Amino acid sequence: MNKQTNAGILGTGWYVPEGRVTNFDLENMVDTSDAWIRTRTGICERRKAAADQPVSDLALRAARMALEDANMAAEAVDLIIVATLTGDQIIPSTACRLQDALGAKHAAAFDLSAACSGFVYASATACQFIETGVYRHVLVIGAETLSKVIDWTDRNTCVLFGDGAGAALYGPVEDGLGVLAFDLGSDGAGGDALAIPAGGSLHPMTEQRLHAGDQFVHMDGKAVFRFAVRILGETVEKSLGRCGMTKEEIDHLVPHQANIRILEAAEKRLRLPREKVVVNIERYGNMSAASIPVALSEAAHAHRFRKGDTIALAGFGAGLTWASCIMKWAKEDIL
Ligand code: ACO
Repeated sequence: MNKQTNAGILGTGWYVPEGRVTNFDLENMVDTSDAWIRTRTGICERRKAAADQPVSDLALRAARMALEDANMAAEAVDLIIVATLTGDQIIPSTACRLQDALGAKHAAAFDLSAACSGFVYASATACQFIETGVYRHVLVIGAETLSKVIDWTDRNTCVLFGDGAGAALYGPVEDGLGVLAFDLGSDGAGGDALAIPAGGSLHPMTEQRLHAGDQFVHMDGKAVFRFAVRILGETVEKSLGRCGMTKEEIDHLVPHQANIRILEAAEKRLRLPREKVVVNIERYGNMSAASIPVALSEAAHAHRFRKGDTIALAGFGAGLTWASCIMKWAKEDIL
């Protein structure tokens, strides 16, 4: 590829809904305990969107914050990519709804489906457009209202997930900064380990399927756990190799937040001390495509990153999919 410019993050934003569901609330809903959830997952509470709050509302708030952070008008956005598995509707795309709500008059818009790897997949896509000079400013959002697709009577899943949205505006950055390398992957043979079985063209919704709860997330937790522990370190090592860097050069790892034990395994494999890993799972649970950009934006706004720092993003999820990238933080930290 003929690279015309480097692509990097110009601004970030995030939003989580006000509704909180604590582990103690869940004790009153299913046969579980705060101690089990905390020790097996690291989660203490998660956020829940209001019944009348669509995912586009979360995405809009995160997107506005990212544009403000980048000091950029919505009219300057050329493309909007929303990574989500809980879009407002099957059609139109959530990205199109967001384009209208933002007033991003000149932007193309589409949704991207890669579950919890979605933000990194969408970031890789954004960078291709910028690096080839096709577009200048691409807004990437990971947004989810998982509370609307989980069975609140199923303790295997309802304790794990939360709602939120994170956004990043990508654009041209100085030489040597921005995104250096990606690794994207998939293994469709593992698709059944994490799925919403009904509501698509394979199994259109029927009364029978509704009764069976096939509109909700079904998960083989152990299979996903084993896959995640292996893939998280592996994909970061691949991305590092592609830009000729080593584990020791990582200043910050921003991983998908699915289970604290998965993060501990990645820390061990990549030999990273905890202070280099951005963790917010205890407050938000697993927000799928929103986990990485919310963690990234919170850390950026908490002044954790300095210009030139090496940051690794890494996600895994339904598909099965995985994705990582290595970037040099391109934004001046203004205190
Ligand atoms: N409270 C109490 N007990 C529970 C709960 C709960 N909430 N959930 C499960 N249990 C029980 C199980 O029923 C099982 O009981 P049994 O032994 O009598 O059958 C026991 O706890 C142990 O279950 P395990 O599955 O062995 O528990 P494990 O230590 O594997 O933890 C967990 C389960 C947390 C789901 C873990 O496997 C995990 O995190 N997996 C990865 C999940 C993940 O990352 N998913 C998202 C991917 S991202 C995406 O694309 C959306």
